[in-house]
Amino acid sequence: MPEMKILGIETSCDETAAAVVEDGRKILSSVVASQIDIHAEFGGVVPEVAARSHVEVIIPVTAKAVRDAKITWDDIDAIAVTYGPGLPGALLVGVTTARGLALAKAKPLYGVDHVEAHMYANWLLDGKPPAFPVLALIVSGGHTQLVLFRGHGKYELLGATLDDAAGEAFDKVAKVLGLGFPGGPALAKAAESGKPNKYTFPEAKLTNPYDFSFSGLKTAVLRHLQQQVGKGYDFPSTKIAPLLNKQQINDTAASFQVNVVKTMVDKTKLAFDKFNPKSVVIAGGVAANQALREELAKALPIKIDYPPINLCTDNAAMIAAAAFFTKPSADPLTLETAPSLAM
Ligand code: KG4
Ligand code: ZN
Repeated sequence: MPEMKILGIETSCDETAAAVVEDGRKILSSVVASQIDIHAEFGGVVPEVAARSHVEVIIPVTAKAVRDAKITWDDIDAIAVTYGPGLPGALLVGVTTARGLALAKAKPLYGVDHVEAHMYANWLLDGKPPAFPVLALIVSGGHTQLVLFRGHGKYELLGATLDDAAGEAFDKVAKVLGLGFPGGPALAKAAESGKPNKYTFPEAKLTNPYDFSFSGLKTAVLRHLQQQVGKGYDFPSTKIAPLLNKQQINDTAASFQVNVVKTMVDKTKLAFDKFNPKSVVIAGGVAANQALREELAKALPIKIDYPPINLCTDNAAMIAAAAFFTKPSADPLTLETAPSLAM
């Protein structure tokens, strides 16, 4: 007998999402309204624009999630919402909506950590869920974390990025290469036609071997491109793309990607050897990267299940799943947003 249907709400960045999940594993509905088209015009996520778009669609998106699940409000046992980390104005829309609904419909409320929730995308797949301890590489546009989960809600942060997130590095390099927004998928596509060993970029050496740093790499790529187009280091990054030919773009994309993927795989392997987890999962938007999936499969001696792309990127089903397993109770009268929430 199913015991609990949770309505999840997610508005931490540029996706307005709502979903109904049964017992943390079965998706009854999942609605994601992406703002990608709106932000593409600006070449990145504009926080104020994001917050305003969330306000416009949060109610219809939530109503659709309930409708698609073919249930009524009476069937919903609790409401879960991302309360951090994320953009302050964007988070506020989800949190105030969830608080209002929890009060109006008299449902318990859960406040969910967005980064922790990314791991729970792996609980939404058919078959057995990952066995603990779980080593999780969480790589998205806002976060890069290597986490050892010993049980639900019990984790140890092994390392994190000291500057840019992995997805952010993809997005920024893609922007200089003129590949548009969001950059990750476009850069990965360009890399397919490029030579990964054409250029060599540096890899950061850090005190904690599980930490990440991508800002040096980003600068190295910029310097390399300025050189490629025969300009000095003061030449603006926004003027480089039109001077590059297709091969230069593809080769730079491939050489950059191979570097980032190697860093992520090496650190995951190092943690795997040290902590001996029963399973390894990758989560977050960058987990959609095919090269990362292939290299990780080669490096690790265990099989890794990958969530489909729509569950790797931001969604509300993972929020509802995380809430079911960790039960992070919150007060509908007082739950605040936590934009800089850290694991
Ligand atoms: O998890 P997500 O949807 O949002 C955040 O919480 O940040 O992740 C979005 C990020 C973006 O930076 C995007 O460029 C990146 O994931 N991404 C990729 C790929 N698909 C999405 N990066 C590399 N390769 C991809 N195929
Ligand atoms: Zn995310």
